[in-house]
Amino acid sequence: MNAGTEEMTNTDLFSPISLGELTLSNRMVMAPLTRNRAAMPGNVPQAMNVTYYEQRAGAGLIITEAAQVSPQGIGYPATPGIHSAEQVQGWRAVNDAIHAQGGRMFVQLWYCGRISHPDLLPDHQQPVSASAIKPEGDAATFEGPKPFVEPRALGTDELPGIVDQYRQAAKCALEAGFDGVEIHAANGYLLDQFLRNSTNQRDDMYGGPLENRTRLLMEVLAAVLEVWEPAQVGVRISPENSFNDIRDANPQATFNFVAGSLSGKGLGYLHVVEGDMVSGERSLDYQQIRNHFDGHYMANCGYDKARAQAAIASGDCDMVSFGQLFIANPDLVQRFKTDAELNAPDPDTFYGGDEKGYTDYLTRDQST
Ligand code: PHB
Repeated sequence: MNAGTEEMTNTDLFSPISLGELTLSNRMVMAPLTRNRAAMPGNVPQAMNVTYYEQRAGAGLIITEAAQVSPQGIGYPATPGIHSAEQVQGWRAVNDAIHAQGGRMFVQLWYCGRISHPDLLPDHQQPVSASAIKPEGDAATFEGPKPFVEPRALGTDELPGIVDQYRQAAKCALEAGFDGVEIHAANGYLLDQFLRNSTNQRDDMYGGPLENRTRLLMEVLAAVLEVWEPAQVGVRISPENSFNDIRDANPQATFNFVAGSLSGKGLGYLHVVEGDMVSGERSLDYQQIRNHFDGHYMANCGYDKARAQAAIASGDCDMVSFGQLFIANPDLVQRFKTDAELNAPDPDTFYGGDEKGYTDYLTRDQST
């Protein structure tokens, strides 16, 4: 049975929802969005990041942009980390601002793996992955796009070290004052590189059968649960997203299994990118995935108000996360409530830059 079933009647996007002890004031979530505006060097959240998130505190929950769990986990320029004392301090200022507005915020824990480049890594290291399979395409470096390189397959004996990096990051998240953490197991990054068979051709306990491919995610989850209450932990998956040159031979079976493995632990939510961000196609039965998981289901990918309200009203999901709509509309909750016109996002300013296209989108009140 789904956690949302008893809440099906009279529930809409603006109804509160509880994750354990934590109550979110509505079911509109700001999706994790890479913006490449951390202070350099050090990949530290800075004043303009505080302003950006504070402007969006009306969301029931904000999930931060993906934050690398270690210097080795990075994959893009100027993304914030969640591993150093300076980063903890930077995030604390963000959390203080959100909490002062009554908002809630989870940090997304990220390890990019093969979606990186030696230019970004300590000592010019070779990126790592489940197997030595090079993605098609280019990495984003400070000098612009450069072709991806072949990653090094992580040794079985190295995996406890990776898990420990997540454990340490989870502790940093607690210290930084977050309300919870989301484990990023989506979009072709390291945990997803283990989950999907196009990138995992290992012959150890971490490759082959579904139970093995899911093992690293489950070990990371166990480490995070040493630090956080289960209700304050979410997991994000993207079963059919081909972004970052990844795929699975049988995504329905793989992710039904992953969802089932995440059940029975009292987790806060399962966050699902429903569809392929590249082609826009959506071919899986997401209710199967939802029905394999026993907690709240957060839907994502191209939802507008009407579709989100319908999905909540029918019980197909419990929460909906919005990406580009929250970039362009800091007061998105208020705009949805009043059926106000929406600002259009400017894709040219999504990744990197300054306040332009970041903190200068006006609320409806400011523009009338
Ligand atoms: C991106 O930088 O485009 C990006 C980062 C993390 C994601 C998805 C996209 O999960």
